Parts: sequence; structure tokens; C-alpha cells
Amino acid sequence: SDPALVDRARAAKAALGDSVFVLGHHYQRDEVIQFADVTGDSFKLAQMAAARPEAPYVVFCGVHFMAESADILTADHQRVILPDLGAGCSMADMATFDQVEECWDVLADAGVADDVVPVTYMNSSADIKAFVGRHGGVVCTSSNAKRALDWAYAKGRKVLFLPDQHLGRNTAVLEMGFSLDDCVVYSPHRREGGLTAEQLRDARMILWRGHCSVHGRFSKKSVDDVRARVPGVNVLVHPECRHEVVTAADQIGSTEYIIRTLEAAPPGSSWAVGTELNLVRRLADAHPDKNVMFLDKTVCYCSTMNRIDLPHLVLTLESLVAGRVENVIEVEKETAHQARKALDQMLALP
Ligand code: 13P
Ligand code: SF4
Repeated sequence: SDPALVDRARAAKAALGDSVFVLGHHYQRDEVIQFADVTGDSFKLAQMAAARPEAPYVVFCGVHFMAESADILTADHQRVILPDLGAGCSMADMATFDQVEECWDVLADAGVADDVVPVTYMNSSADIKAFVGRHGGVVCTSSNAKRALDWAYAKGRKVLFLPDQHLGRNTAVLEMGFSLDDCVVYSPHRREGGLTAEQLRDARMILWRGHCSVHGRFSKKSVDDVRARVPGVNVLVHPECRHEVVTAADQIGSTEYIIRTLEAAPPGSSWAVGTELNLVRRLADAHPDKNVMFLDKTVCYCSTMNRIDLPHLVLTLESLVAGRVENVIEVEKETAHQARKALDQMLALP
């Protein structure tokens, strides 16, 4: 990265001192992550968001839904700032509030809405989290999906999981002992979600038809090819990957799990990692004694995560030094109140 920009970021951060708290998701660029006070997966960042109540500014280097959650979880006097407002998430965009309300009507018409407990992945907008909070549900991340789904299933014996069908299916089938037939997929663009009332009545897990545009690109062939190329390779993937990928892999886990697994791996071992490229590159650099590679070279960065770059971070920090607070993410009060119920329920999971 440009040394002049690195110097400017360093100077601005030093000038701001304890008044700024910088959070960085593991998928952020190296040039940005070096300025994070805390790095983490979605769950750790949600836990840490409120860790510095004395800091008036929380700069969130990640994507929009994460910054919204941070705004909900931080104190009222704190402002959460997203260095580029264009840093969204294509998966979160796959479930809109109106679509989810419509889905709930379809469930009611099928006579099952009263049994359903909604669970939303962290990767969803604040108004979806508020919907889930209003209906007695819970938020989850990739590191606590099993606990959240167990809790919801024990409560209602039927779960609506938004918006990542892969995380939902992988957790239900590989961790909860459900069969593939227990899961149905609700398609928001089709009439009645493309499901009959009978299918909805029989299903234990109703999955929303959403996916991550990065992880969804790994295939079974990616796994087969790397196994053919690298004898003894361990395949380690994120649970947002398709079911055919996780069933062919050796280990599955959130970004934080992936990091810990590679730290504990013996020198000389080989690892093909199926997650975002910034993180895999950083892991390869951090472990020169291990053979760490990207699961499939045709898959690329998360383009929205990558929108937060050093120039945007410098502008953000320098604006704060100049007394200008820009790119604030502020969730409307009632939405925040309802969403907080579902987030607090997640943070309270055993
Ligand atoms: P985690 O941070 O929970 O591993 O999720 C990855 C991701 O895709 C975030 O957008
Ligand atoms: Fe969204 Fe996937 Fe990017 Fe995460 S990696 S922000 S889920 S598009």
C-alpha cells in the first residue's frame, strides 16, 4: 500500500487517540486490517462492538449489516461509521423486509406460522433482524448456528432460516441430524415461495433461497481438483459453501475457526482453504512453515468487503480529526429495539 497513505492513517489515528475504536472483519484488506484495534469474525465483532463505551466513534471496517448491528449494540452516544457506504452484502440483499413479511403470510395461510421460530443469519439487514426479534426468534452467525438453531427448534419444532440456505442446510444436516428431506427452500421470487402448504407442514427447516456470492462459487470439483493436485491436503471450508462442498471437505467453520485451526496445524501440513481471498492470503503469509492455498483460484475477493480500502479509511479518520462525522450508520429506534432482542438472544445462547 501507498506509504504516504499509511503515514496519514497512522497520524490521524494517533491524533484521535481513545476517541476512535476501529473494528475489522477478517475479510478486510491487509492495508486496512493493520489499523484495526480488534479483528474478528461476525460474532466476535458483535461481542466487541460495545467494548469501548468511552469511544464516541466506532469505525467499522466490514460491511453494512455488521455496522448496523454495531450501532444497535453500542451506547446511544456512540456513532458507528462505515468508511464506504457502498460496502453492502449481496447475500443480505437477497432477503428484503417486504419479501419476509410476504413469506410469513404464506406460512400463516398454510397454518404453520404459529409453530415457526425465525432465525436470521447476522448477514441480514436490521429490519429483518427486527422482524425476527418481533416474532420471538434469534440471530446467529456461522460460529453459533447450531446453538441458535437447536434453541429455535426446541422452541417451535419448525424453523424459518434467513437468508443463507447453505449455512441453514449444512447446520441442519451435518450438526443437527436432520435429513435433506426435512429441509425445503422458500423462493421469494416465486408464488407461495414455490412450495405447497403440505410441504410447509412437513418441513422442519424452511430455508430462504439466498447464498453468498463468494462462497457459493466453490464446487465439489474445486475439492476434487485440489485433492488430485496436492496429496494429503486438508480441505477447510466456511459453512456458507454449498452442501456438496462441505460434505467433501475435511473441516468446516467460521473465519475465526479457520484461523485457529491453521494456528494449531503441524508444520509441513497442507491446507486448501475455501473462504474469502484476503483472509487466505494473510493466513498463507502468517504460516510460511505450512502449505496454505486457496481452494479454487477462479474464486475471488468479496467485492463489497474490498470497497473499504486505505484511501477510504484515511478519509474517514481525517474527517473525524477535522470534526466532521460522515458515513454514520444509524438504525431507526423501534427497528433497533426489536432487532436488539434477537441479537441479545444470540449473545445469551448457552
Ligand atoms: P463469519 O465472520 O461469521 O465467519 O462470516 C463470514 C462472512 O461471510 C461475513 O460476511
Ligand atoms: Fe456477504 Fe459473502 Fe461478502 Fe460475506 S463474503 S459480505 S456473505 S457477499
